[in-house]
Amino acid sequence: MAKPTTSYVCSDCGHAEIRWYGRCPACNAYGTLKEFRGAGAGGRAARGFGRGAADQAALRPVPLREIDAARARRLAVEPAEIARVLGGGLVEGSVVLLGGEPGVGKSTLLTGLALSWVRHGVRVLYIAGEESPAQIRLRAERLGFQPDAEDGFEILAEVRLELLLDALEEALGAGAAGTRPTVVIADSVQTLHADHVDSYAGSPNQIRHCGAALAELARRHGCPVFLVGHVTKTGDLAGPKLLEHMVDTVLYFEGSGGGSVRLVRAFKNRFGTTGELAVLEMRADGLAPVDDAGALFLGGAERSEPGAAVCAVQGGSRIFLVEVQALVAPSRYGTPQRVVQGVDSKRVALLAAILEKRAGLDLAGCDIFVKVAGGGRLDDPAADLAILTAIASSLRERPLPPGTLVLGEVGLTGAVRSASAEPERLREASRRGFRRAVCASAPGGGERPRPPRGILVQAAASVEEAVALALSPAADGGER
Ligand code: TYD
Ligand code: MG
Repeated sequence: MAKPTTSYVCSDCGHAEIRWYGRCPACNAYGTLKEFRGAGAGGRAARGFGRGAADQAALRPVPLREIDAARARRLAVEPAEIARVLGGGLVEGSVVLLGGEPGVGKSTLLTGLALSWVRHGVRVLYIAGEESPAQIRLRAERLGFQPDAEDGFEILAEVRLELLLDALEEALGAGAAGTRPTVVIADSVQTLHADHVDSYAGSPNQIRHCGAALAELARRHGCPVFLVGHVTKTGDLAGPKLLEHMVDTVLYFEGSGGGSVRLVRAFKNRFGTTGELAVLEMRADGLAPVDDAGALFLGGAERSEPGAAVCAVQGGSRIFLVEVQALVAPSRYGTPQRVVQGVDSKRVALLAAILEKRAGLDLAGCDIFVKVAGGGRLDDPAADLAILTAIASSLRERPLPPGTLVLGEVGLTGAVRSASAEPERLREASRRGFRRAVCASAPGGGERPRPPRGILVQAAASVEEAVALALSPAADGGER
């Protein structure tokens, strides 16, 4: 028998220590270390070692070829935007975490999905942790719920995990054939509380425990579960990272520039690609797809103004045209400011430094402001050249000729590299009326692939060349 040991486990983050501290060394919470006796929280027993002989006899490795690879069955999802982000539908038994800031519309999105399911005879069970059933009914009515016609939308207003699990076992069990819910929605995982976990609802330990219990239930019953998650001030999903590892899909729901446009991105998807983006609009009667999402982040100005440059970025399987706007002005204070919106400020500082060093622009005494039109966000490295060109255009007070696209990644040496999936990006720009594109020249001075019809490609090897090309009036000499 193992010698009994004592360990001290943090009730917030689950960190274990062999001696007591007033403050948890892992999460810095005060007074959360609790004494545990036994083989220790991190010991063999806790990790599932030391099973009985009977268990050991049953546990045998299974050859991979003997494992039944049943295709993941998917439940149809409406709107199609969300279906695409999920990889083509909701996989049976999968767990989807939907994160977003308060008020962005998580409950609205899930209520809308639930209503579209019940209209197709798919039963939904909604765990209401944040709102009363009456509030959920009111929201559903706003989204077009018809009490007489639509059956199969059930609410469980409970936050105690043990009671919920009992109710779910019963609802999902074999005896409940006709009334068995097909989808379970838990809104939100932060409000759930397990009695035997000694910390407050919403603490990392509680979230981890409740999330794991619901995920296990989903897999065992083959019933997809949506978990709504909160987002912290820094924009991360609240709670332990472990929750994100536990689930199959992590969707992020965000607003765009304070307007009514909402974006849903997949950050992790075991059943599809990540980086997919759904574009929706919050209307008075719920979330609806946006008609022309590809042009959402274009400035919309008829005339070109100095400081604006358009690039084509990839959002999953779609290409979005995005306008970057820059304003460069002499600094009134000692330290020039770099204020950005929708772009990482370090990236802007880096690109400004490249402009100074490699293209000879004098930005030292200037404030630089950069923003993305329509409240978009630019993470795509292929937008480097557009950010840089926008800054140069504002500094020189020279607009880019209308219909010019700028596309390419920029290195510290000032070299321009071509964007991934460049032909697709050029095709989309051409489709939207762009007639000229400044891109990277082929590596090693080789031939560039033929550009799509109708768009003139001007290739540049360096930042200096690219900026000069982009700001000069459209000229011949490129490939069309
Ligand atoms: P909600 O789904 O409650 O947000 P979350 O669950 O993410 O906290 O939605 C909040 C906002 O959405 C609220 O300010 C009202 C607005 N809204 C609409 O504009 N149209 C609608 O049809 C609904 C239901 C909500
Ligand atoms: Mg909500």
